[in-house]
Amino acid sequence: MSYETIQVTPVGGAIGVEIAGVNLAEPLSNRQAQEVHEAFLANSVVFFRDQTLDPEQQKRAARLFGEPVAIPFVKSLDGHPEIIDIVKEAEDAGKYNFGGNWHTDTTFLETPALGSLLYALEVPPRGGDTLFADMYAAYETLSDGMRALLDGLTAVHTASRSYGSQSKFQGGRNTSVSMKIDASEEGDRLMEHPVVRTHPESGRRCLFVNPNYTLRFKGMTEAESRPLLEFLYAHCIRDEFVCRFRWQAGSVAVWDNRCTMHRAVNDYDGHRRHVRRVTLQGDRPH
Ligand code: SIN
Repeated sequence: MSYETIQVTPVGGAIGVEIAGVNLAEPLSNRQAQEVHEAFLANSVVFFRDQTLDPEQQKRAARLFGEPVAIPFVKSLDGHPEIIDIVKEAEDAGKYNFGGNWHTDTTFLETPALGSLLYALEVPPRGGDTLFADMYAAYETLSDGMRALLDGLTAVHTASRSYGSQSKFQGGRNTSVSMKIDASEEGDRLMEHPVVRTHPESGRRCLFVNPNYTLRFKGMTEAESRPLLEFLYAHCIRDEFVCRFRWQAGSVAVWDNRCTMHRAVNDYDGHRRHVRRVTLQGDRPH
């Protein structure tokens, strides 16, 4: 694909491109906005460097991709319900980091996020990268027989282990001193989604299960579901399907949550990392 108003450089073999020539703090021209959106749909994750965004500018930049939305359980930035600060402090050594397991955002909701725009304010001197996995490639490289099996399955999702009665963050345990997560029984709700979804804009099929929120297949027990789910999770994160983003202060990542998983690497104990996320309203997966 060729672009007239932006420069696009691949970051990984399957997904992820860095886009240069864009100042997200200012409104983009129609042509530039269209090209950024095309690059997003074609590559599933796009990255920008050297941006300076206040919360309003970050929300306006996020609207290039979708409509900002508030998410449950995680305290938002004062005056900005669609923004959350994701922080691990130097003093949080030994704790979980938010987003540290492979996951697709909010699949425990009826309409999981379309995507998110993450902006880095402060990063550790080394480490703290984010990994992104291509769920189109994961689906397309399965055998015909496996795809036919998965095409007919529904998965049950829940936030129980993150924000419900089994929350690893319960009572402040393991949470950064700077993040407020309100686990509650609401987090135990079950939600069903197809195991393979069709992306509403690209029309392509992709896997839509993730280790954080998928509990089991509908009509099967957790024990019965586990072997196939474990196989799929290992398959999805094969090296050739994953790209790795090295953050700098001012970097921005925007991921298409409908066809990717991601994971924040927790390898920077003793250093502060502060990124700010705007989540985008998604649709009901089909
Ligand atoms: C997230 O999962 O939203 C956070 C990702 C990150 O901090 O890199």
